[in-house]
Amino acid sequence: MKLLVCGGVGFIGSAFVRNHLKIKPKDAITNLDNLTIGSNIQNLKEIENNQNYKFIKDDIRNQETISNIAKESDVIVNFAAETHVDRSISNPKPFVETNVLGTYSVLESARKHDKLFIHVSTDEIYGDAENKESFTEHDILKPSNPYSATKASADLLVESYHRTYGIKCITTRCTNNFGPFQFPEKLIPKTIIRASKNLRVPLYGGGSQVRSWIYVLDHVEAIDTLIEKGKSGETYNITAWNEITNRIIVEKILNLMKKPQDLIENVGDRPGHDKRYSIDASKIIKATGWKPRYQFDQALQETVSWYQKNHDWWEPLADEKTLHPQPWTVNW
Ligand SMILES: NC(=O)c1ccc[n+]([C@@H]2O[C@H](COP(=O)([O-])OP(=O)(O)OC[C@H]3O[C@@H](n4cnc5c(N)ncnc54)[C@H](O)[C@@H]3O)[C@@H](O)[C@H]2O)c1
Repeated sequence: MKLLVCGGVGFIGSAFVRNHLKIKPKDAITNLDNLTIGSNIQNLKEIENNQNYKFIKDDIRNQETISNIAKESDVIVNFAAETHVDRSISNPKPFVETNVLGTYSVLESARKHDKLFIHVSTDEIYGDAENKESFTEHDILKPSNPYSATKASADLLVESYHRTYGIKCITTRCTNNFGPFQFPEKLIPKTIIRASKNLRVPLYGGGSQVRSWIYVLDHVEAIDTLIEKGKSGETYNITAWNEITNRIIVEKILNLMKKPQDLIENVGDRPGHDKRYSIDASKIIKATGWKPRYQFDQALQETVSWYQKNHDWWEPLADEKTLHPQPWTVNW
């Protein structure tokens, strides 16, 4: 099988590429990424000489390049996105450009060449689950910030392309990922990096927000399972059911690093901050047999120790802006 992976130099996309070439060494992957925020070419060092791997630096909005690669591919998996909520609050424009117009551009190629399009979306499109049951795929989309609003817009575009043009597509909506190679501005790496420098660790709005965490390898295995067994036109929630408050995550990390809890600093809350994300993933389990394999505490411990051993990876990325305690106030 030939795959066009977009945004495969970022955190989840690179985990997908590394894992896919390990489990399906005969498959070929062309990875297109414009190497913007979240990307790091070091993420793919271990496969850079693999004969079945090719990297192209370009933007997903460049329809000509996308179309040329899509023509030769069987499946298109789109991870490319602007992904940091705090940046989207400070400057929404790149989020509209990549997450909406970029998805449109890739969809056009999927339509033109009749290829299966895997749209990698997020649980954040359902909005706040405070005091509600876990969201299923039938719930309405109620995004709360520019990031989730642009992802929800993309979900709707994909749905419309299936209904109007009959394109082959699958949408995945996954919960918060963690693991090695995650960009330093996200909660878990930022906590580890700030604590390792003995800097105060910011907790937005008291840290009572609940997120449902999944180890990145569980997510990419779910996507591979859906390429094989998913039904076109369907949407699948993906979670490992680890609902934990941000405060508890930060406390666990400080314990694992043997750092004092008084490094924690309460800072003002992110505007529009959702209190809880919660989704039900029964559908993918029933339809495909996929199940999360990684246990949360063990995976968190391995993630902490990866960052402790890989200063060379994060040092060049961890500048003052990236580690800022309230990034939505930064002029990105
Ligand atoms: N991180 C999470 O917890 C999470 C959870 C659910 C879904 N997702 C979704 O998974 C996908 C990947 O997330 P991630 O955490 O790996 O993000 P990331 O920020 O680490 O990586 C995004 C990648 O997309 C590339 N990119 C951005 N704009 C581009 C453009 N215009 N053209 C080409 N490439 C471009 C970047 O260079 C980067 O390599 C996103 O679509 C995100 O919405 C993320």
